[in-house]
Amino acid sequence: MHRLRTRSLLGMQVPTDDEIRALHAEHAPSREAFDLVYTHCRIVCDLAEHVIAAVPHIQPLDVALVRAGCLLHDIGVYRLFDASGRLDHTQYVRHGVLGHELLAGAGMPEVLCRFCSCHTGTGITEHEVRTRELPIPPADYLPDTLEEELVMYADKFHSKSDPPAFLTARAYTQKVSRFGPDKAALFEKMVERFGEPPVEKIAAEYGHSVRH
Ligand SMILES: [Fe+2]
Repeated sequence: MHRLRTRSLLGMQVPTDDEIRALHAEHAPSREAFDLVYTHCRIVCDLAEHVIAAVPHIQPLDVALVRAGCLLHDIGVYRLFDASGRLDHTQYVRHGVLGHELLAGAGMPEVLCRFCSCHTGTGITEHEVRTRELPIPPADYLPDTLEEELVMYADKFHSKSDPPAFLTARAYTQKVSRFGPDKAALFEKMVERFGEPPVEKIAAEYGHSVRH
């Protein structure tokens, strides 16, 4: 059981980095899965911090909550590894809901669980769940708060592909376009609002490549 003890700006209690790392270690089915998912979460955290630093007018913002959200958002991916250690890509869209369930099961408050369920793509509507017949309960999975939006946004600039890679805004716009021009437009609006983080710089720190 992980105790919640760090108090964030808005008085929310959020787990510390060490507690979150321990939660990853507890749920990762292998060292490889941990390295892939936890490193990605750290990178998303770095990306979000660059975005926040570059756009001071997006304050007031609960930065501690964004940090915890970034570090936790993909924890549900561990539940998609099969016994042989392979990630089931066909069910990938479920990772948000699975993460929400995992955190709720670990006693985390809804505000933290939502970072998992509401960060996928540029958000998923109930209409999409039904029309695309997605394997998740029909509901809106959309960011509700600035903190949730920032976690979702930062996540778009790094992919757990093999090998993992960073994406420029242009590369993500192209990637999301296959789900419709409305998705690309939604993302482009976020780029205008939040700015593009320095992906080249962060990629060099992690030794990852950048897709342009
Ligand atoms: Fe992610």
